[in-house]
Amino acid sequence: MSKLTLDLILKSQGFGTRKWCRQLVGEGEVSIAGETVADPRATFETAGLEFTLFGEEWTYREHVYIALNKPADFECSRKPSHHPGVLTLLPEQFAWRDVQPVGRLDHDTTGLLLMSDDGAFIHARSSPKRHIPKVYAATTHDPVTPELVELLLAGVKLHDEPAPLAAVTCRKLDAHRLEIVLEQGKYHQVKRMLAAAGNHCTALRRTAIGQLTLDALGLKEGEWCYLDEAQRALLVGL
Ligand code: URA
Repeated sequence: MSKLTLDLILKSQGFGTRKWCRQLVGEGEVSIAGETVADPRATFETAGLEFTLFGEEWTYREHVYIALNKPADFECSRKPSHHPGVLTLLPEQFAWRDVQPVGRLDHDTTGLLLMSDDGAFIHARSSPKRHIPKVYAATTHDPVTPELVELLLAGVKLHDEPAPLAAVTCRKLDAHRLEIVLEQGKYHQVKRMLAAAGNHCTALRRTAIGQLTLDALGLKEGEWCYLDEAQRALLVGL
């Protein structure tokens, strides 16, 4: 349990500098339990606090844990260069809170992307030591053959990687699509593994991380949601 002044509560939620938040409160833009609160120094218990800002309702969150169904043509990097950044798909205050992607997807890869402002969560979920499987549906230029699946399961050598990299599981979905599960998350890993196995990836979609699936979240492309504790607990081995 912790109490904070209203200006600091708004600042912590990414609504701007303390000065700006003080101004918003002073101008009567914030209400709590249906009452306008015009004193920025008024204190409130933060746990579960609900407030309205510019007529929109928010709940105080110490950290945010977000799942985004990433569309193509958005970059995960902090300083996007050729396409807009994924943060532009979220409300503006998340950038102020320093929300970042957990790991990266290529600009043309779609599907499940986690984002958070909790450094410990980001570090733990992107650490290769955690062995969190990531499930991808890859579309291939050439037909998916049993040999291709065998090769990806046995491991393929990528230049600049000391040892061959193998899929945890791999199965044919249809003539030109396969599902591949990886635990490592190396740069362009699926595309490079498919190339090393003699095929070419023409489209890539991440469908699950651990046991958290995009289908269960029901997000359309470009949509996002908060992840609760139970959903975060699914980010483990299969
Ligand atoms: N593998 C890739 O090649 N690209 C991604 O975006 C993710 C995994």
